[in-house]
Amino acid sequence: MVTTVLTLLAVLACIVLMVVWRVHTNGEWALWWHDNYLERIRDFLSGTTRPMRILHYVQRSAKCGDVLSVISAIDSFCSKVEWAMNVGDKKGEILDAVVLETRPRYVLELGTYCGYSTMRIARLLPPGARLITIEMNSHYAQVAKELFQHAGLDAQDKSAEKRPAGPTCKVELLLGSSSVLIPQLKKKLDIDKFDLVFIDHWKVSYLPDTRLLEECGLLKSGSVLLADNVTCPGAPDYLEYVRNSPRYRSQYFPSQLEYLQVEDGVEKSVFLG
Ligand SMILES: C[S@@+](CC[C@H](N)C(=O)[O-])C[C@H]1O[C@@H](n2cnc3c(N)ncnc32)[C@H](O)[C@@H]1O
Repeated sequence: MVTTVLTLLAVLACIVLMVVWRVHTNGEWALWWHDNYLERIRDFLSGTTRPMRILHYVQRSAKCGDVLSVISAIDSFCSKVEWAMNVGDKKGEILDAVVLETRPRYVLELGTYCGYSTMRIARLLPPGARLITIEMNSHYAQVAKELFQHAGLDAQDKSAEKRPAGPTCKVELLLGSSSVLIPQLKKKLDIDKFDLVFIDHWKVSYLPDTRLLEECGLLKSGSVLLADNVTCPGAPDYLEYVRNSPRYRSQYFPSQLEYLQVEDGVEKSVFLG
């Protein structure tokens, strides 16, 4: 009897150790563990959502009107308390460098989530620049809007139909699916071409939305596409396209998956026309 119990405990310990090892070394396991399993348990136990927990932490710990303080509070929460799918601090530095080097006036972001990357980009834009960010989940969009307010960013949450004429704000959050909104951007938002597109929504949409941006004439020679998570979870069809198309000059920047020691990277692709 004792031997059986000890054997069962040993097998259980081996399984737990194996799961812990896989979660720390394998991207798919890490995402499954943090993004599905832990998030659902915490949601169930707390009666809140992960974006709400991020927002509450920021409201408690970040200085109002200080975008850097908000970014750093989100990084602190996501590295010490609870993982979340922001681009994160490490790949965020690559994003910052690309924004500074591109000096864009018109920026499009696909996938806002809580607005972490939106805030990283917005703080580096010159006055008068426009940052359009698209999010299809209304709860995430609402949280992002509250975080923008806390950070002191002038954000609006508008559908493309409702945007008023007149002076533009720095961050324009559009609620809806990228495939529906991209074809409306030229007319409804009075945008001609984007200088920089940060692609960070669901990975299956990277390639179709890139083709849509081309078809809608939203890219010009020199427009930069920066795509997150091209290694983990990966966007192989997108990489195959931008790396082999004569219309792009593409470069990979290795890094790590946000807040974890798992390999990931971003792909910078310059549209050649
Ligand atoms: C990885 S998160 C974005 C993280 C954010 N860019 C950051 O770094 O802080 C991906 C987001 O894209 C949104 N999304 C996925 N597919 C979309 C689509 N086709 N149109 C609009 N939003 C989409 C999801 O709801 C999710 O909030």
